[in-house]
Formats: sequence, structure tokens, C-alpha cells
Amino acid sequence: RLLSTSTPSKTTSADLSTRGMIVQTLSSVGSKREVQQYLSLFTSVSSQRFAVIKVGGAILTDYLDELCSSLAFLYTVGLYPVIVHGAGPQLNSLLEQAGVEPQFEEGIRITDAKTLRVARDLFLKENMNLVNKLEEKGVHAQPLTTGMFRADYLNKEKWGLVGKVTGVNKQAIETAISNGYLPILTSMAETDDGQILNVNADVAAAELARALEPLKVVYLSEKGGLSDAAGQKISAINLDEEYEHLMSQDWVKYGTRLKIKEIKELLDTLPRATSVAIIHPGELQKELFTDSGAGTLIRRGSKLLS
Ligand code: ARG
Repeated sequence: RLLSTSTPSKTTSADLSTRGMIVQTLSSVGSKREVQQYLSLFTSVSSQRFAVIKVGGAILTDYLDELCSSLAFLYTVGLYPVIVHGAGPQLNSLLEQAGVEPQFEEGIRITDAKTLRVARDLFLKENMNLVNKLEEKGVHAQPLTTGMFRADYLNKEKWGLVGKVTGVNKQAIETAISNGYLPILTSMAETDDGQILNVNADVAAAELARALEPLKVVYLSEKGGLSDAAGQKISAINLDEEYEHLMSQDWVKYGTRLKIKEIKELLDTLPRATSVAIIHPGELQKELFTDSGAGTLIRRGSKLLS
């Protein structure tokens, strides 16, 4: 049997033709051995502990169809990733249209009331759009747009209406999954008093991962991974052995440097079995179900998923 017995009850388990489709799709990606191995690994934990997937704003506009096909595939094999998205690039252009200059401090958006209003409307619209696209493909998806992240002000003077996450509503995620729905979260939080705060989507994904302790934390990016000095994709980074060396290289700068540092900080707080993948949405299956993957894998030690 390909599918785990812990498949949520409301999901109709794949019938024979679906199963045939699954095996066929996957065998075009990897060998039967690899596919079986990773399928049984990913279904060996409770459903909400398979993966947290962060979807960048550019993916929602430029690769929505590929994203939804990849998620539909996972859903069909009984895997329920927890999705969290931002909408950064669209937000910048909307703000510019509204005559607001987007401002950042240490990579975090300074959020005033007007920015928050524009951001909130946009995030809700993008969330609904993703949910609708998934439903069109027969994937049950649940928008989880409020009450998911509890937060305090990160630093009101410096960033304004930006949250520092203090709690995650795991219960709502578990309920959605056990009812057979993919949870689709947006990166907004509320304070104890109900003030909505903006949260950076990478930060929201990291907090979700800390709460859920998934096997995989996936960052979907149009670049499909991190690249080295020669512009070649880096297949894997073993932080225990390579972090110091990597950070001493002068080609590791700006975004890449920050990303690696943030991922190290995240993985340091998670079980050793958790690894991070940076991958293009169209190559998610290859990344997850083959040994060699397709993007960049980042883990603490060299022993894979030990
Ligand atoms: N499929 C395995 C996983 O998801 C291995 C992926 C390896 N990926 C890579 N870019 N080297 O954990």
C-alpha cells in the first residue's frame, strides 16, 4: 500500500487508477526504491509534521499553476503540507501606486496603518486566490487567515505595526488537516488586544516550523535554490561541517548570507531530522522523492534525515 494508514478520514484514499497515476508520475521523477522510501518516511510522522511550505509572493503571481499542481500531487498521495504565504513583491507595487514608498529596516518592512491596510487586503485576496485554484484542482484547502499567529510588537518605534510571534494556533492546523483540508495561512498576526500586525513571511514560516517540528521546511523560490560563486546551484549544505567555511567566503553575501544564517538559526532550534529545501515549485516532487533532489538541501549534519 502506497498511502499511509494515517491519511485523514475525510480524504477518499486513492483508488487504483489514482495509485497507478501516482506511481507513474513518481517513476518519471525517481526510481521506485527512492519514491517508496521517501513516501514512507514522509508518512511515518503525524500528518501535520510532514512539511511547512513557505510560498513567496512572486510564486503566487508567476507560478501559481505549477504550485497548485505540485500541492495537488502531495494531497493525492495523502501528504498535507502546511502552507504559509506572503505577497511582498505585489505589495511593493501596490504601495507605489498608492504613493507610499516601501521602507525596510534590517530586511523587515516598516508598516504604518496605511501599509497594513493595503497589505491585509492583498494578503486576503492572494490567500483566497490560492485556495480557489487548489479547489479547482480538486484539492480541499482551508483559508486560515486570522487567529493563527499571536504576536507582540517587534519594536513599535522602529517598525510600527510589525509582529513578533509569541504563539501559533496548532489546533486549527490539526483540525483542518484531520478534516482533509490543506491549511493555507497568511503572514499576519494579532496581539492579545486584537490589533493586527504584519509578520515577515519567512519569520512566520520559521515560527510555524518551531511549533510543528516538521520533517521538511520548504522555501519555494523562483531561483530554485542557492547558487555558488560560479552561479552553479548548490545541491546540499551540511551546516555542522560547512557553515564556518561558507560564511568566510566573500561570494556569500547579501540575501544568500542572510538566508543561510537564518536557516542555521532555525535548524538549531529544530529536531536534527528536520531539513530545509529551497526549490522551484515545479520541481518539488523531484526534490522530495529522489535522493539527489533538484534544489538546495540544508541540514545540520551529513546524515540525511537521521
Ligand atoms: N528527497 C530527499 C529529501 O527531501 C533528499 C533531497 C536531496 N536534495 C538535494 N537538493 N540534495 O530529504
